[in-house]
Amino acid sequence: MIKLNKVLYALCCLIFLLSCKKDFLIIQGCTDKSALNYNSSATYEDGSCDYDTLIPYQTTPYMIIIPEGFPDMDIPENNPMTVEGVELGKKLFHDPILSGDGTLSCASCHMQSSSFSDPNRFSTGINGIQGSRNASAIINLGWTNSFNWDGSASTLEEQGFEPVINPIEMNNTWPNVENVLNADTNYKELFRRAFNTQKIDSTHVVMAIAQFERTLISVNSRYDKYLRQELQLTPSELNGYVIFNSEQGDCFHCHGTNKLMDNSFHNNALDLEPFLDNGLGQVTGLASDYGKFKTPTLRNIEFSAPYMHDGRFATLEEVVEHYNSGGEYSSTVDPLMKKLGVGLQLTNQQKEDLIAFLKALSDTDFINNPDFTP
Ligand code: HEC
Ligand code: HEC
Repeated sequence: MIKLNKVLYALCCLIFLLSCKKDFLIIQGCTDKSALNYNSSATYEDGSCDYDTLIPYQTTPYMIIIPEGFPDMDIPENNPMTVEGVELGKKLFHDPILSGDGTLSCASCHMQSSSFSDPNRFSTGINGIQGSRNASAIINLGWTNSFNWDGSASTLEEQGFEPVINPIEMNNTWPNVENVLNADTNYKELFRRAFNTQKIDSTHVVMAIAQFERTLISVNSRYDKYLRQELQLTPSELNGYVIFNSEQGDCFHCHGTNKLMDNSFHNNALDLEPFLDNGLGQVTGLASDYGKFKTPTLRNIEFSAPYMHDGRFATLEEVVEHYNSGGEYSSTVDPLMKKLGVGLQLTNQQKEDLIAFLKALSDTDFINNPDFTP
């Protein structure tokens, strides 16, 4: 009897020791071989098995073809162009999912048929409120480093954050956009392919859109073809070209020649002081910048009416009339507005020729390019 007790006692001790030892050996982790984070030394399944962690996706580089006469495009190192990124950016650009009530996309105010600008003088946001500036055309912005009429953004990525949360534009919040996109299996897959990411955040959204915007290149106007010696301009267009590029019209000093952009800010004598909109001065806080605005590209100008930061001119005739009049004096008016008070004194024929030249900057391939359409 005593013997049996001893044996039982020894057995109990053994079981106790063994269980202690087992406890001691427990390594928690995922024990399922089919999971991505299977841990071969784990002895205890702790529920951490992960079956859908990112399977790295090989992105395809997107090659931007730099047009003749243009410098290399300044693409941020952390946002290289990929076929998947551009495709996703195009989808996002056209998708009202980014707006607070799901009704307004970037393309609602930046329409391809209007060269990615708004034919309305002021765009209307989701709350029916209008701003006080005309939506800029989005053309060849890959070669620009200041965005919006007042230069308030310095990269396309930075610019993209703004319209989504602007109360008079898409009036959304970024956390809300992130939630909605993360709940969308299709978008989750597209973001995974573009950025090898499992969790979509606002940075990925603006990066994809910026990639798409960098593909919006226009270099197939009659003027481009003329420069490439593929065609001859009409006598009227040629005459306008001379006016534009000579002291007579003096447009080229600000609007540039071949690239048709100067990446700079000027006061082109639209208004007397005080200005309704201080433009660049609103961003820099400098009185010497009041009334200065970014010189817009004149490419596709025929399609992007109305004109100027506030869309005050409905037609190119009105624009030419403004320059022909010499404009208004103000303390920040640009010295390149040389005919202030005198006017350019163009004849009617010269005005027509200048407009004919401006229309030679129209690139119908650009506004009809199916690559830009969803
Ligand atoms: C409700 C209309 C509206 C919507 C929606 C909108 N924009 Fe704009 N966009 C504007 C206006 C107006 C401006 C000019 C703003 C300024 O200068 O203050 C502008 C300016 C821009 C510019 C600057 C272009 C340049 O030449 O400097 C870019 C780029 C741009 N928008 C991209 C976008 C993107 C991307 C979206 C979507 C995420 C978007 N916009 C949504 C109206 C809109
Ligand atoms: C001193 C620099 C300067 C000169 C010279 C100049 N421009 Fe401009 N131009 C600008 C600026 C800056 C704007 C935008 C101003 C604004 O919106 O307030 C502009 C706007 C325009 C627009 C409207 C663009 C748009 O997208 O709304 C047209 C068209 C235009 N200019 C044509 C011309 C022509 C034609 C000439 C020559 C007769 C000329 N410009 C001379 C600086 C200049």
